[in-house]
Amino acid sequence: MENIIHVEHPLLKNLITKLRDINTEGYFFRKFLSEVGRILLVEALKDEEMIEVEINTWIGNSKFPALKEDRYVFIPIMRAGLPMLDGVSEILPKSKAGFLALKRDEETLESHLYYDRVPDLTNHVAIILDPMVATGGSLDYAIRVVKEKNPARIISLNVIGAPEGLSRIAKKHPDVKVYIAQIDKGLNDKGYIVPGIGDAGDRAFNTE
Ligand code: PRP
Ligand code: URA
Repeated sequence: MENIIHVEHPLLKNLITKLRDINTEGYFFRKFLSEVGRILLVEALKDEEMIEVEINTWIGNSKFPALKEDRYVFIPIMRAGLPMLDGVSEILPKSKAGFLALKRDEETLESHLYYDRVPDLTNHVAIILDPMVATGGSLDYAIRVVKEKNPARIISLNVIGAPEGLSRIAKKHPDVKVYIAQIDKGLNDKGYIVPGIGDAGDRAFNTE
């Protein structure tokens, strides 16, 4: 699973414990997902190529390194991926966003696409955002849709994964780098990650 990068940091573990706590209200649950997304992005872009830009400073014009921000397209998977968009776009304000909505059938565990508003991704870096990789079906589906838009590269930022789902992605999409903050034990008989955080979409938006 060379393309699965487990990002370990005390701040991430601390945030994940808050996410696991069932007393964390929707508003804070969204905030913590957003913060995990931001920290994962820092790790994911640590070796990025930089450009030189000329800017005005207090002592005159000069050239400094910068990221080509509009090369990055964040793609949150609705619903639960949506809160992650806030944190990442705060540090790359000129980045773009596209939207995919997928819903997992709770009986068959198959995912269905019900909204695709992802632009053409030619010459862009696509960064998928979804907190959960359980069976990996939703992420696999999202990656297949994103690949059809011709991105230069795909990165996926995810909060909690089960070994089953992550190895499925590693096998089917070895070209996609997956940054994950926590790898949990596995899935229960309903396809939920254990210990996990429960239904991330419901927890984020206070729907049960
Ligand atoms: C959740 C989650 C993932 C998916 C993971 O979404 O956000 O997209 O389940 O499960 P999988 O790896 O087995 O496919 P869900 O389908 O519950 O939709 P929601 O975000 O609207 O609640
Ligand atoms: N989707 C969730 O929101 N949580 C899980 O544990 C599995 C799928």
